[in-house]
Amino acid sequence: MSDGPARSLPVPLTAELLARGQERYNIYCTVCHGRTGDGKSVIVQRKAMRVLPPSYFDQRLMAQPVGYFYKVISEGVRNMRPYARQIPVEDRWAIAAYVRALQLAGSGKCEQVPAAVRAEKGWSCK
Ligand code: HEC
Repeated sequence: MSDGPARSLPVPLTAELLARGQERYNIYCTVCHGRTGDGKSVIVQRKAMRVLPPSYFDQRLMAQPVGYFYKVISEGVRNMRPYARQIPVEDRWAIAAYVRALQLAGSGKCEQVPAAVRAEKGWSCK
């Protein structure tokens, strides 16, 4: 056993988990980190923060295991406060899984979306 952050989720990755994570993320995190996690949030745009939240798409954060996000939510990090008292353990994992999903969504290429889905949504890759 290593003491580092968990490299995989301790709960099954399901659509329900991600939906719960999305709902909780939007309640607790969006205000500072933005809906997509790029750090362009309402608060940041109002210049109301001294230390800005980083984008989840930064290489350093892209390289972190999912357990790192769980740890940040639970314990806080430098200028971000911990959320362990407000957010139950299962919801913290759901949010961590959702943060990883945001990273994958935000760094994906349009061509990776199946053509049928693109057609249905009316997306064009240009
Ligand atoms: C009140 C604003 C605020 C809220 C709400 C907030 N954060 Fe943060 N977050 C920050 C700031 C500011 C930093 C940068 C802290 C620093 O570097 O000193 C940060 C940093 C982070 C980081 C990067 C840690 C690193 O290694 O640099 C992650 C991941 C993160 N937050 C996730 C979350 C998640 C998930 C939530 C919701 C549960 C959340 N944050 C809620 C302000 C916030």
